[in-house]
Amino acid sequence: MLHSPSESGFPNTRLRRLRYHAGLRALVRETTLSPANLILPLFVRPGKNIRQPIASMPGQFQLSLDQLAIEAKEAQSLGIAGVILFGIPAEKDVAGSDSYCDTGIVQQAVKVVKEAAPGLLVVTDVCFCEYTSHGHCGVLEERNGVQDVANDPTLEMLGKQAVSHARAGADLVAPSGMMDGMVGAIRYALDHAGFTHLPLMSYAAKYSSAFYGPFRDAAESAPQFGDRRTYQMDPAAAAGQALREVELDLREGADLIMVKPALAYLDIIRDVRENFPGVPLAAYNVSGEYSLVKAAAANGWVDERTLALEMLTAIRRAGASIILTYWAKDVARWLQ
Ligand code: PBG
Repeated sequence: MLHSPSESGFPNTRLRRLRYHAGLRALVRETTLSPANLILPLFVRPGKNIRQPIASMPGQFQLSLDQLAIEAKEAQSLGIAGVILFGIPAEKDVAGSDSYCDTGIVQQAVKVVKEAAPGLLVVTDVCFCEYTSHGHCGVLEERNGVQDVANDPTLEMLGKQAVSHARAGADLVAPSGMMDGMVGAIRYALDHAGFTHLPLMSYAAKYSSAFYGPFRDAAESAPQFGDRRTYQMDPAAAAGQALREVELDLREGADLIMVKPALAYLDIIRDVRENFPGVPLAAYNVSGEYSLVKAAAANGWVDERTLALEMLTAIRRAGASIILTYWAKDVARWLQ
């Protein structure tokens, strides 16, 4: 058996030879993971000296501006590429007006981070769900007796919000509301306000996912009625729909593309990577993906560090160059 020549390769070919030495394993490893690939999501709220633990996301906090400054400095010193900011306003209203107010919570947060950690890329999430009393991602309208987000009236508001983020000093705006035409509307608004240079990362293929559960707790942004299925994508939709979303966003002027969530959607990440090879691709390792591991690790059922690194490596291997992850600081320390 051992000596019979075989067309299938064995015994001449033994793939384990590449695995015996740690140095050789590292040499033939093609996927890398570094803090420079990562963006850390942060939640900011009004107040002073607040570091309010988020129960459903152990290790994550709602931060007041002073605490945000500390967090931003730490992220910068760990070599993390950037932060994405989510605001929890003092007051929510029907229009989500804090989101486009120049003294709104996120606008203040942008200034604080720019000042505390000038080397960090400051990304803003452009959406309404954290700011509206109803928790939906835009302006409501009634259709056939049912309340839903009105697409086109929301576009103008998104433009307004993005421009106020730009005025505050954001480096990259990231619309996440899945409105048709949102990228074009924001691009138009930014350009007309003098921000032609400001890049835009679109949450292009964003699925209506139960993996966002802990985030809605963290950002206090759960919809007060219904769900987001009339705007976020159906998890069972064929991959072609994601490609259409990406293509449209690129035509409207998106500079970077995001797929979200990440782990249950690695096929989508791969499809986007293969179909749009030159486009910078991000994936959002969302709250549920984080909290599941945290809960299992707290029970001693999994090893958090090994599992988190494996998951993030898989997202990179699928084709995402950028990962938004709540583990960003841990990864930086683990890899040191
Ligand atoms: C919308 C937004 C959401 C997330 C990022 N941006 C929530 C939603 O669509 O309900 C979820 C991120 C996560 O789960 O970590 N502003």
